[in-house]
Amino acid sequence: MSPCAPDTLISALSWRYATKVFDPSRKVSDADMKVLMQSLVLTPSSFGLQPYRFLVVTDPELKARLRGASWGQGQVTDCSHLVVFLARQAMTEADVDHYIRRIAQVRGDQPENLAAYRSMMVGTLVTGPRAATVPEWAARQAYIALGQFMASAALLGLDTCPMEGLDPKQYDEILGLNDTPFRTVVACPVGYRAEGDKYASLAKVRFPVEELVEQR
Ligand SMILES: Cc1cc2nc3c(=O)[nH]c(=O)nc-3n(C[C@H](O)[C@H](O)[C@H](O)COP(=O)(O)O)c2cc1C
Repeated sequence: MSPCAPDTLISALSWRYATKVFDPSRKVSDADMKVLMQSLVLTPSSFGLQPYRFLVVTDPELKARLRGASWGQGQVTDCSHLVVFLARQAMTEADVDHYIRRIAQVRGDQPENLAAYRSMMVGTLVTGPRAATVPEWAARQAYIALGQFMASAALLGLDTCPMEGLDPKQYDEILGLNDTPFRTVVACPVGYRAEGDKYASLAKVRFPVEELVEQR
């Protein structure tokens, strides 16, 4: 891996802003979308369990319906691709086994050799007291994916807007999620900023590093 130059990283992160107006005529290439999907897949998660799914919406009718459930925010329809971040609502033994089988497959191991790891995960998230907190726990993992997604997009020169300004229940209904183990937590349009978006040139409002980062 050749490290990214520090200037490149900081200029990409400074260039990124919560895009209010996308250029509806510009579409993100399949090649770039493939890279962004990889950035989602490569997200780290607790135990590695990946308790999330990512729905990529491009259908104009579906986008229009979702806009109605997003405080009317135009980014939903004008972006190139709308990524909806979904979090698992419960963990079952079958979910843990699915992951154990995947580890064994990828690493050429036997699932039986992973019995202790399996018991720890089941004891924590399926049968333990933390089972009740799975929706929140999974949502936190989804937000890590969101952060990684936005930073990756910026490094590719693509614009995004993290969006909590939406009604998750309406999203779940529109996207047909109610019969699945997943629910909407946040969305992120990706595409290209419109030339006239005045937010692009506003100075970033951040507290000084000394206020946010304490050295001990
Ligand atoms: C979790 C989250 C939810 C947000 N929801 C919205 C939203 O619904 N609509 C919007 O225009 N901006 C939304 N924002 C953007 C923030 O207002 C913005 O990131 C913040 O003001 C900092 O500005 P910058 O991202 O342009 O640097 C959201 C940001 C985050 C992190």
